Amino acid sequence: MPVVYLSHGRHRWRMILSGLVGRDLLAGPSLAWDRPENFLAEVKDLWGVCRPPIDTAYGLDMTTNDTLRVTDSRTGRSYELPIVDGAIRAIDLRQIKTSDDDFGMLSYDPAFQNTASCRSAITFIDGEKGILRYRGYPIDALAGKASFLDVAWLLLRGDMPDKSESASWAHQIAHHTYVHENVKKFIDGFHHDAHPMGILVSTLAALSTFYPEAKAVHDRDCQDQQVVRLIGKMPTLAAFAYRHARGLPYAYPDDELSYAGNFLNMMRKMTEPKYSPDPVLEHAIDVLLTLHADHEQNCSTNAMRGVASSGVDPYLAAAAAAAALYGPLHGGANEQVLNMLREVGSVQNVPGYIKRVKSGELRLMGFGHRVYKNFDPRATIIKGVADEVFEVTGRNPLLDIALELERIALEDDYFVSRKLYPNVDFYSGIIYQAMGFPVAMFPVLFAIGRMPGWLAQWQEGAADSEQKIARPRQIYVGETLRHLDGEDG
Ligand code: ACO
Repeated sequence: MPVVYLSHGRHRWRMILSGLVGRDLLAGPSLAWDRPENFLAEVKDLWGVCRPPIDTAYGLDMTTNDTLRVTDSRTGRSYELPIVDGAIRAIDLRQIKTSDDDFGMLSYDPAFQNTASCRSAITFIDGEKGILRYRGYPIDALAGKASFLDVAWLLLRGDMPDKSESASWAHQIAHHTYVHENVKKFIDGFHHDAHPMGILVSTLAALSTFYPEAKAVHDRDCQDQQVVRLIGKMPTLAAFAYRHARGLPYAYPDDELSYAGNFLNMMRKMTEPKYSPDPVLEHAIDVLLTLHADHEQNCSTNAMRGVASSGVDPYLAAAAAAAALYGPLHGGANEQVLNMLREVGSVQNVPGYIKRVKSGELRLMGFGHRVYKNFDPRATIIKGVADEVFEVTGRNPLLDIALELERIALEDDYFVSRKLYPNVDFYSGIIYQAMGFPVAMFPVLFAIGRMPGWLAQWQEGAADSEQKIARPRQIYVGETLRHLDGEDG
């Protein structure tokens, strides 16, 4: 029977529970656990209900008597590997040896298809059911209903801010939107056709040299200071990268505007004394940023956690994360979707294009996901945003091609059998283009949205006593010992 240790504040209980394998015990802070009898009453409700995660960083730990019995056919020996939250620890495999000098069994998992690298309480995804939740809240309850900055707070702090927290958070972020004037000079040095994502990655890394105090990565106050700076400065770096490419003078932040409104201001302001964003477009940007705010252990977040695990400051780790996001299989996909739609050219060409995809010549960009094997809930929300934006901007002619690609793909056995559905990037690019953003800015917009997620995951990793420097093993398949000609063996 599982044994569960639960602690809250000063209290700690050891419980032997039959049927209770776990639940989202992080709902705990809302429970009255200050007294054992209250806690026990709550446990009755938890009985028989099962779901992780429990986060060590939040002071909860769990052990279990459930085990996986492994018999090694080479030696005939059996091992009992503890199962916690449906997982075994890979390090427990190391005891499986054929002899004393055997290194021990490794697990081999290229691309981490079945390996959890951390315990996390931030984002929950059920890819089979198409569920995405931030800190327990379904994405459709947040996007468009809470501001992006409130969602950022939620990801970072675990709960929605109250009114005064929300106002003071927005105020803090607005007061960190300016960058040092030397950052501008630094951006000036880039070639006129430099990709804005390249500029963003480089300037994020460069911020490390402006804030050397950020190296105190285990000091929570210092961490929080960098969190505010990074979220505040991202739209400024992004907009400056854009204006540099266009040869336009930089537009400075306006701290009277919302986060999304100020971004539009820095992108678009020309000679008018004060820029007023269109409320529909401002809202659309806010929703799109929210949809991108976190997505558990995706490629760029894994880069953030992995690079930060060496102890570097968050500017360098965020630069690594942004670099990972730039790839066409990740955040660069929305840029590729637009290129693809342009290449298809017209609705009539869609069947021919699908044929090429099915033959393996091409991939249908914006389709498929490592985790979602049903539908991407963000794609559904984005389609609603698209309708609102097109009311203001006029319909993007590429939308008809996208809709036809989606229609055919969703009926075709090639896509159905592989569980390939439109992902968040299939429609986001069409909206961004209708709003007048150049294609090269799409991954930059994604990066602005993802920054709170990267930072929340970084802080969680830094507080997790189980984490160490990320350093995978390998299975060496090269030459055994060799000698240069003439050298004795
Ligand atoms: N078009 C056509 N076929 C595809 C696609 C696609 N977009 N995606 C996967 N497949 C096929 C593969 O060819 C493979 O077929 P096979 O079994 O006959 O060999 C099968 O589906 C499984 O594909 P994998 O590459 O193993 O799937 P994986 O989980 O590794 O890849 C990924 C996920 C990278 C997202 C992939 O679906 C892809 O390349 N999509 C296009 C790029 C894209 O839209 N990326 C954005 C992802 S969302 C984000 O980062 C925000």
